[in-house]
Amino acid sequence: MTTLSAPTARNEKTKSLAQFGGTPVSAKAIPFMSTALTQADIDACTAVLKTGMLRAATKCAELEERWAKATEAKYAMTCANGTCALQLAYESLFSPGDDVLVPAWSYIATVSMVVARGGRPIFVDCDPDTFQIDVKDAARKVTRGTTAIAATHLYGCPVDIDGVQELAEKHNLMVIYDAAQSHLATYKGKGLGAFGDAVTYSLYATKNLATGEGGLVTCNDEGLANDIKLLRSHGETDKYLHERVGYNYRMNDMAGAIGCSRLDRLEAQTNARREVAAQYDKIVSKISGLKAPKTTDGAVASFHLYTVQMDPAKFICTRDDFCAALKAEGVPTATHYPRSLPKQPALAEFDRNDCPVADGMAARVFSLPMHHDLSPEQVKQVGEALAKVAAAFRA
Ligand SMILES: Cc1ncc(COP(=O)(O)O)c(C=O)c1O
Repeated sequence: MTTLSAPTARNEKTKSLAQFGGTPVSAKAIPFMSTALTQADIDACTAVLKTGMLRAATKCAELEERWAKATEAKYAMTCANGTCALQLAYESLFSPGDDVLVPAWSYIATVSMVVARGGRPIFVDCDPDTFQIDVKDAARKVTRGTTAIAATHLYGCPVDIDGVQELAEKHNLMVIYDAAQSHLATYKGKGLGAFGDAVTYSLYATKNLATGEGGLVTCNDEGLANDIKLLRSHGETDKYLHERVGYNYRMNDMAGAIGCSRLDRLEAQTNARREVAAQYDKIVSKISGLKAPKTTDGAVASFHLYTVQMDPAKFICTRDDFCAALKAEGVPTATHYPRSLPKQPALAEFDRNDCPVADGMAARVFSLPMHHDLSPEQVKQVGEALAKVAAAFRA
């Protein structure tokens, strides 16, 4: 239980809150995510199990072919997870010692895998409305040693791809997009696989397309695709002939089968997420002190997360107090993320490079329940809970 500060304790304004004994908006907690498999998913996986041959085979190949089409890329390669996907792309596209522009506001893997490759991360601040990498700040931070930019399409929202590509062209940078959270998002009418040198995806258990553990890399260059395939499987070009040092970052066919089966539903589920997001936009825009996420111009987001900003000056409580009250009303939330990447202890040795917007997000953001199974009634209850908690804690 969160300890509340004095102004947020029980008083005339807050006594209706479920946290202080009032009736909750929803007696049953609204699910934050929906990860259930269907019988079709289970049957697809069982069919692989029955063959007794579990390695990457026809189902991984099918997933690769379908993912390339779905994202408008020429080549797609399955791999063990989204972190491996980043490693495969990074190792193929830049060298140890290179400076790499990275987002200060993202999940750690985008940056930690730059470090694992031996690169030096140069932190770039985020846009205060979209949370995405701020291309103007990136332009200011290009160094003589910068050879690449790694940009995350965060929460399901594409970055300003035109801006990133223009910057990359000007400085001859490789571009790697981390689309772990942005399955089926589009930019200017095109799939995300059409842009940059490589795009990486995670198929982790809670992602929009989830195989438990799993990942994909897409690209449009045959030579790069071959490099990535070699690295993925110990540089093997013939049975036990290893032309370069690589890894075992392969996926397996059970994951491939689940991925293919779930992919049948992904477009409909993504549209359902977009519908929920549109409703949330209307709800949040009516509550002073809360800010809905904006989508990058020209982009259509896929809403892995719907992340709201709370202006602490407009309330008598902290973000954590606000979220504790929402939880008691039956609305769980999550913090993506509790600190910016330059403030992660694991990355403390690198220049912090002044990212005030990203640093400030850590105290402001919270994510609302977001998935394809939310009913209109549940969305309405989320709205009621937000309005109730905001009114109770209004400054
Ligand atoms: C933005 C981003 N990049 C990379 C990853 C890493 O993916 P995985 O967990 O599949 O290794 C994640 C996973 O949460 C992510 O959200």
